[in-house]
Amino acid sequence: MSWHSHEKLEKNALLLLGFVIVTVLIGGIVEIVPLFRQETVIEPVEGVRPYTPLELVGQNIYIRENCAACHSQQIRPLRDEVVRYGHYSLAAESMYDHPFLWGSKRTGPDLARVGGKYSDEWQVAHLKEPRDLVPESIMPSYEFLLHRGAKLHDLKQHLATLKTLGVPYTQEMVDNASKDAAAQAAGEARTDVSGLLSRYGDKVNARDFDGQPYMVSEMDALVAYLQALGTMVDFEAAKDVEEIGNPGAM
Ligand code: HEC
Repeated sequence: MSWHSHEKLEKNALLLLGFVIVTVLIGGIVEIVPLFRQETVIEPVEGVRPYTPLELVGQNIYIRENCAACHSQQIRPLRDEVVRYGHYSLAAESMYDHPFLWGSKRTGPDLARVGGKYSDEWQVAHLKEPRDLVPESIMPSYEFLLHRGAKLHDLKQHLATLKTLGVPYTQEMVDNASKDAAAQAAGEARTDVSGLLSRYGDKVNARDFDGQPYMVSEMDALVAYLQALGTMVDFEAAKDVEEIGNPGAM
């Protein structure tokens, strides 16, 4: 375009507006479209695995009870958060969450790395009656979870659905979903968990979480989920933390 025709563009507001819109649209498309393909923007990180069927049931209870209304699951790369909660969250750590449970409000603390922070007994006692352990707590009591059986029969469909969304469940995982959930809550001491561990890895917690060996309660599922949160990536083993993701964030 010669200078002369550019002058035309500059002196005609409508024409200029048209060109501005086209330019901004192109810029927007270039930025946004690649994000539709999640796998191109999230670097996979070693250790991150899909949730086990029992953890998924727990996640469903977490969603149903709207724990996210009071708890976030995202540690930001800010000094105070990292000192309090641990390594900042990596995108890959929530890549299999459908929906994301990052939350936006912290009435209670962040839970992104609560897995392994407390014993199962602590988690159960706290969920049963938070004030028994933290007298000033305003968290509601969830004692009823101990008395409700976890819904395990539809897990096969649940895994199959997540598979269509890109969660890498194998057909074997889908076929064994309900069995794996029951085995995880029964624990090594009482059943053969080798199938579960071969499918999801040796780090999976398989034990009677709620201390009620005669049933798989919703408490079992929720505690299994909480104990898995933030434990999949081994930050200790990674010699250079910057190497495993989100470079330059801190
Ligand atoms: C009304 C807000 C509220 C809701 C809803 C709520 N919590 Fe909490 N939660 C809190 C507060 C406040 C604390 C801090 C005091 C305490 O430990 O009880 C807390 C603490 C916790 C802790 C201990 C965290 C730590 O690092 O010490 C866990 C685990 C937890 N909540 C899990 C849950 C789960 C699971 C649910 C849903 C079933 C839930 N909370 C629902 C407010 C809430």
